[in-house]
Amino acid sequence: MSEQTKAFYVTTPIYYVNDAPHIGHAYTTAAGDVLTRWHRQRGEDVWFLTGTDEHGEKVLRTAQANGVEPQQWADRLVEQAWLPVLETIDAANDDFIRTTELRHTERVQQFLQGLKDSGEIYEGDYEGPYCVHCEEFKLPGDLIEGEGDQAGQLLCKIHGRPVEIVSETNWFFRLSTYADALLAHYEANPSAVQPQSAYNEVIAFIRGGLQDLSISRSSFDWGIPVPWDPSQVVYVWFDALLNYATAVGLGDGPGTPGAAKFAATWPADVHLVGKDILRFHAVIWPAMLMASGLPLPRKVFAHGWLLVGGEKMSKSKLTGIAPSQIIDHFGSDAFRYYFLRAIVFGSDGSFSWEDMSARYTSELANGLGNLASRAAAMVVRYRSGLLPAPSAYLEADLDLQRLLATTVPLVDEAVLSLDFAGGLSAVKAYVDAVNGYVTEQAPWVLAKEPENEARLSTVLYTICESLRAIAVLYHPVMPKATTSLWDQLGAAAGLGELSAQPVQEAGQWGQLTPGAVVTKGEALFPRLEESRDHGQSPRLEESRDDGQSPRLEEPEEQSA
Ligand code: MSP
Repeated sequence: MSEQTKAFYVTTPIYYVNDAPHIGHAYTTAAGDVLTRWHRQRGEDVWFLTGTDEHGEKVLRTAQANGVEPQQWADRLVEQAWLPVLETIDAANDDFIRTTELRHTERVQQFLQGLKDSGEIYEGDYEGPYCVHCEEFKLPGDLIEGEGDQAGQLLCKIHGRPVEIVSETNWFFRLSTYADALLAHYEANPSAVQPQSAYNEVIAFIRGGLQDLSISRSSFDWGIPVPWDPSQVVYVWFDALLNYATAVGLGDGPGTPGAAKFAATWPADVHLVGKDILRFHAVIWPAMLMASGLPLPRKVFAHGWLLVGGEKMSKSKLTGIAPSQIIDHFGSDAFRYYFLRAIVFGSDGSFSWEDMSARYTSELANGLGNLASRAAAMVVRYRSGLLPAPSAYLEADLDLQRLLATTVPLVDEAVLSLDFAGGLSAVKAYVDAVNGYVTEQAPWVLAKEPENEARLSTVLYTICESLRAIAVLYHPVMPKATTSLWDQLGAAAGLGELSAQPVQEAGQWGQLTPGAVVTKGEALFPRLEESRDHGQSPRLEESRDDGQSPRLEEPEEQSA
C-alpha cells in the first residue's frame, strides 16, 4: 500500500488493570480522542488505538489479593471499568487491545522468536532493584533513600515505595548496542520526542549509556510464555509495548488482512504517553523495532501529570478521582474541554473543582452557551426562525470575518502540534469577539425600527455564521454540545453532518444557507449551582428556563 493511503495512527498507553481508571488515565485518552477527531475532520484516515495491559506481577498480586485468577480479574476490570470509561468520556477509539488476547500473544511470541533467531537475545543473570508499581528494573539514579519507617530501604522515586531485589536467570535483549543508532535517529528527527524537555531527557539518558534489558521473568507465570523456554514469561513492558504493532497485524504474512492493515497503519504517528513512561517508549521501544528492521514511530509525546496536592494523582495514594465524579456534574464535553484548555499539554497541572467550575461557568455556560441561545432566540423572535440573508457588510462584520480567517489556521497548527491549550484559547478568543459584537450591534435595538431590517439581517447572519465556524472548530473537543448547536442552527440541511465539515475550511465565510430553520434547543451548558450539601462538588441543575431561554439582557429587548 502506498504512503498516501497510510492512516494517521494515534495511540494511548495501554492501562494496567490492577485498578479502575482515574482522571489521569482519562486525560490521555481524551487528548488522543480530540487529536483523532481533529485529523478526521481534516479529511484524513485515522486509526485510534487504546487498550489494557493485563500481565505482570502488579496485576497478578492484585488478583491474588482479591482471591481470583488474574484472567478473571482482568476480565472484570475491563468489562466494569476500562470499557465503560470510554463511553463516559465519549472516546471514539477504533480498536481496544487487551494483552491477553490471542491476536496479541501469538504475535509477541513470533516477534520474540525472530529476535532470538537473529541473535538479539541471550541468556544471562540479573540481580538488581525492581519496582513492581512501575514494573521496571531500576537504575541507581531512579532510587531514593527511605526515611522514618522506611529508613534503610531504597524507594522508587515515582511511587515512594520500597523496591524489591530481584535475582533471576533471564533472557536479555541487546539494548546497549542501539545507543548510537538511537542518538543518530533523534538527531535526524528532532521532533520524534516532544516536548523539548522530554527530548532532552531522552538524549541525556541514552548518552549516559544503555544496559542490556532483561526481557523475561521466571519467578511467576502470569505472562506470555517465552516460546523457546516456557519456564519464563515475557517481561510485561516488552509484551505491552508490542501492542501498538500487534493490534495492527505485526508480522502477518504477505497477502493476509493483517499485513494489509500493518502497511496501512504502521508506523504510529503519535504515541501519547505520560512523562513517567517516556523512556520505555523513546528508548526501549524504538530499539526493539530497530532490532527487527521495522520503521520507528514518528512521534512520542510525553504529557505531564495531573497533580493533587503537588503530587501525581494516583489510586494507590488515594488521590485518584474517577472521571464520572466530574462528568456526572459537568458532562463529558466540559471534561474534555477543561483538561485540554487549562493545562498545557506537556506540563503538569493541578485539578481543582473551583477552577473547573469557574471555567465552566465563564467560558462554556456564559461564553459559548449564552451566545448560542441568544442567537437562536433572536432568529426565532425576529425572523420566525428562518436564517436571514445578509445584506451589505460593514467594517464591524468584516472585522469578525477577518478574525475568523486568521483564527482557523492558528487553531489548526496548534492542534496538529498538540498545543491543545493554544488552539482552544484561540477559539475562545473568537467566541469572546462574537459576544462583543453582539453587545455592540445590539440587535434588540435594531429590531425596534423597521428601517433597520436589512442591517438586522446582516447582524443575525453574522452571529449565526460565526457560530457555524465555532461548532466546526470545537466539534473534536466537545462533540455533544456542538452537535446540538449544529441542530439549532439548522446547518445540516445545507452543509451535511457536522463531523464531515473540514476544519481547515471553517474560516470560509458564508457557508450557512439563508432560509435555514433555526430553533431554540436545550442549553448547551446548563448553569451550575453550588451544592451546599456536597462540600466542594458543584451540582448541575436540571435545564431550567433561564438556561434555555436567551438572555437578551437589555430591558428594551423584553418589550421588542
Ligand atoms: N501499562 C503501562 C503502559 C504501557 S504502554 C505500552 C502503564 N499503565 S498505567 O495505567 O500505569 O498508566 C497509563 C498512563 O496513565 C501513563 O501514561 C501514565 O502517565 C498515565 N497517568 C497515570 N497517572 C497519571 C496522572 N496522575 N496524570 C496524568 N497521567 C497519568 O504505565
